Amino acid sequence: MSTGLSEKLNEEVQKRRTFAIISHPDAGKTTLTEKLLLFGGAIRLAGTVKGRKANRHATSDWMEIEKQRGISVTSSVMQFDYEGHRVNILDTPGHQDFSEDTYRTLTAADSAVMLIDSAKGVEAQTKKLFQVCRKRGIPIFTFINKLDREGQNPFDLLEELEQVLGIRSYPMNWPIGMGKQFRGVYDRKLTQVELFQGDDHKEIQVRKVSGYDDPIVKEIAGEFFYDQLVQDLELLDVAGDEFDYEKVQKGELTPVFFGSAINNFGVQTFLENFLQLAPTPTPRKSNEGMVDPLHEKFSGYIFKIQANMNPAHRDRIAFLRICSGKFERGMSVKHVRVGKDIKLAQPQQFLAQDRDIVEDAYPGDIIGLFDPGIFRIGDSLSQGGSLEFDELPTFSPELFSKVTVKNALKHKQFQKGVDQLTEEGTIQVFKTIGFEDLILGVVGQLQFEVFEYRMKAEYSSEVQLSRMTYQFARWLVGDDIDPAKFRINSQLVKDKKDNYVALFENEYALRTAMEKNPNLKFLETAP
Ligand code: G4P
Repeated sequence: MSTGLSEKLNEEVQKRRTFAIISHPDAGKTTLTEKLLLFGGAIRLAGTVKGRKANRHATSDWMEIEKQRGISVTSSVMQFDYEGHRVNILDTPGHQDFSEDTYRTLTAADSAVMLIDSAKGVEAQTKKLFQVCRKRGIPIFTFINKLDREGQNPFDLLEELEQVLGIRSYPMNWPIGMGKQFRGVYDRKLTQVELFQGDDHKEIQVRKVSGYDDPIVKEIAGEFFYDQLVQDLELLDVAGDEFDYEKVQKGELTPVFFGSAINNFGVQTFLENFLQLAPTPTPRKSNEGMVDPLHEKFSGYIFKIQANMNPAHRDRIAFLRICSGKFERGMSVKHVRVGKDIKLAQPQQFLAQDRDIVEDAYPGDIIGLFDPGIFRIGDSLSQGGSLEFDELPTFSPELFSKVTVKNALKHKQFQKGVDQLTEEGTIQVFKTIGFEDLILGVVGQLQFEVFEYRMKAEYSSEVQLSRMTYQFARWLVGDDIDPAKFRINSQLVKDKKDNYVALFENEYALRTAMEKNPNLKFLETAP
């Protein structure tokens, strides 16, 4: 490749930031995303910003079930430009029925934005998603939302980040008052006060000050809040963590921003700081070592497969994260697992229902590939060579159902449906030992409904799902795997790759099994 191209590649990589927002439903993810897109003037939306009301999900009507429920089942990708940067937001399903896709999507992000409701603090779904990010060691930025409402004391919130999530924090700004008395935030780096006006202001109103003891701050805050602010900031200066860029990069320290997404307050400040601090597309592990985004040969991997985005076509779309090189429409790449060259003729990003054909794309970008059934989660595509990215983790399901076909004559279609739907990666299938009963495992209840619906619609198989009471799946690994020697008083099954998996009803049962089988490892993700 010519030097011109490598310069261009470097330039494009430097511009990019690819992140996911992690939060619990209702924390304000949709609202924050919308504000971010407004700043940028969105250029591409793969999917939609989830509608929080039924009439707002017009762009995501891919699946009937979404229409029926008025929620978005699928994750999506959004792209926008802001001050010389190209930003990719990987959305994660905001409904509490999230799926394994949500976890896997996080593997395609280079950093995460953790959104927290100031009244509720760290909630269950945030915690789960945080742990996945933590394992990858990616930088995590925190936005504490809804400061226009009465919330928890900011120190308590920081304490919670540390106690519940085990991450240290550095507040980039600090609230002055709260709820009805919310006056704004004091920016610690720029030593200025960002004034809260209460309505959806486009321009940020700021007052530059000499420090938090500047009389202007007192004027803005009023005596009571001023005293509180000075006390708080002094305490932060003395007892708080120092800002340490390296720790931020490793995900050990989270920069914290306070604001109110619905009032568009603090969002632009957050975005600008984020763009400065967040990493450009990071290298990815492969069988040939770390793959640098500046490596000139194109490579990428598929982290998600989504069916029936357009019911008229009944096709599947494979979402590919570009890891290195330049992507050009029509290029031939090696589909490494099957050992064949394929032509990427119809790469897509989506603008609502009208699919937008991508001409070129760079590391950090996500493209949708038309999938006639040739892709699996984790597949690598690369230009020349046989570079393969590390396998994507399989996460422990939390809900289980036994599945049978209602009409035994349809058994063949049933089996085909189960095989194909579980290949998409949001549902796992296990077989009981001996009887070979099928058990499905998911991380969100909605996946069962999607499964049932699609089995009927696409494979004309009516299924019977019987919920089981298990909550945990653990993959059993050891030097000498012999089920006869397992001392496990629980359901033993095998996964698709014939690994032994034990299903447990509660933590007590799991702990007991671990104690009784010291030679076995109980893995939360498939080996
Ligand atoms: P989600 O995607 O994380 O589930 O949250 P979403 O943005 O849908 O926001 C959840 C609710 O919180 C919405 O209210 C939204 O308006 C509100 N919200 C978001 N940011 C703020 C904020 O900074 N301050 C306050 N006070 N509220 C905020 P809703 O009543 O469910 O919907 P709507 O009637 O506003 O549409």
